[in-house]
Amino acid sequence: MTIDRAAIDQSAELSDIEKLGLSFDSIDDQACALLGYQRTKQISRKSRKMWEAGNPRPLAREIKERKQDIISGAFLEIYQEYLPLRAALAGEEIKKVCDIGCGQGINDVFLFKDFSPTFTLIDIEQTDNQYHFWSDEGSGYASLASAQALLVANGCKNRMLRRSILTKHHGRRPGMGLTL
Ligand SMILES: C[S@@+](CC[C@H](N)C(=O)[O-])C[C@H]1O[C@@H](n2cnc3c(N)ncnc32)[C@H](O)[C@@H]1O
Repeated sequence: MTIDRAAIDQSAELSDIEKLGLSFDSIDDQACALLGYQRTKQISRKSRKMWEAGNPRPLAREIKERKQDIISGAFLEIYQEYLPLRAALAGEEIKKVCDIGCGQGINDVFLFKDFSPTFTLIDIEQTDNQYHFWSDEGSGYASLASAQALLVANGCKNRMLRRSILTKHHGRRPGMGLTL
């Protein structure tokens, strides 16, 4: 599959997200902050830089001012990236999804709406490193509890979900976390 970034960025708009009728109610400020770290296009450069330097307060302030914009922007960005996957899977029966590096589970919400599979959500929730220092060691910044809460708020049953948290010592192969 060839990915054309420019085309992806124009493949959907906010009104398409609104039409899906999703619930964002489970996304508290902390989950929104994680979403901002995972999707840094949605937050200010200042908030990102300060967080990388170990100061989360500017992002906390930004969330107070424009939380729903951050959430909507992240959902749209992820939805645009999801559409080629949906096209590739069209007509398939998808029974199980294992999402490694699932973040806040937003891709999984879209997969749930289209395919209703069971999920194994895998991520590293926290590392000493902040942000994208992953080339040598990886870095984790997710909450599987809030990913699960988002899926459940959007109709997925808890019995369809498993969570596996990788530790920061993830030199071990991610495969160890699988519970399929
Ligand atoms: C850029 S975010 C993307 C999150 C989500 N998949 C999305 O599309 O929005 C990258 C995620 O990968 C996780 N991550 C980084 N290294 C990882 C590893 N070695 N194993 C599992 N998860 C990892 C991070 O904690 C973070 O949640």
